[in-house]
Amino acid sequence: MRLDFALSNAGEGSRREIRDMITRGKVSVNGKEVRDVAFPVAETDTVYLCGKKVDIRRYVYLMMNKPTGYVCTTDSNERNVFELVPENLYRKGLFCVGRLDKDTTGLLLLTNDGNFAHEIISPKKMCKKTYRVKLFYPVTDEDVSAFERGLVLANGEKLLPADIDRTDKANVVYITVCEGKYHQIKRMFASRGNKVIDLHRIRVGKYFLPEDLETGKCRLIETPFMEIIEKKS
Ligand code: URA
Repeated sequence: MRLDFALSNAGEGSRREIRDMITRGKVSVNGKEVRDVAFPVAETDTVYLCGKKVDIRRYVYLMMNKPTGYVCTTDSNERNVFELVPENLYRKGLFCVGRLDKDTTGLLLLTNDGNFAHEIISPKKMCKKTYRVKLFYPVTDEDVSAFERGLVLANGEKLLPADIDRTDKANVVYITVCEGKYHQIKRMFASRGNKVIDLHRIRVGKYFLPEDLETGKCRLIETPFMEIIEKKS
């Protein structure tokens, strides 16, 4: 990577601002001042800008415990999840790997690496997603059988089989799906005449929401490519 690219990708300023700072001697690489904007750097190099250490990793992979009230896009004036990403973990082009509704909480993956996202979002990968769902009415045995057979939604859309795990409360279940359709969980329960009143995601593929990740906080995934998907058998 060129030094100017590495620093602007890390969100330290525009390419032009970065070049200016480099040529003015504000940047060091592995302890030595570097004034060449195209100086090649590796992710393992130690880079300082104006005395501050900069993480120059090209790609980042994050898990967030999404709070309610935040949207997963930046195309409205609403509060969005990107506002919750700490500055040192932020990268240009960061996006959500599969969106959650504004009122849905729990595990959200974010990255600036399209290949990683593809491994998770692509329908062919059958990536399992698990949600804890609180419903208005109790879930019946007929509901469970219908989910396990594969539901047909109100618009005639046929879904793949989904697994339901009951809890000690009749109106709280865990559901695991291997698709990611628009408002899928809410529409699934709506098709059974029920209503989701709380939706919380705990799993995406091999990633589980860590118990100690507080609501609204982010954590770096250090080894994202270790066997991303567990295939549905
Ligand atoms: N299904 C929904 O209905 N909403 C979400 O946010 C995720 C899955």
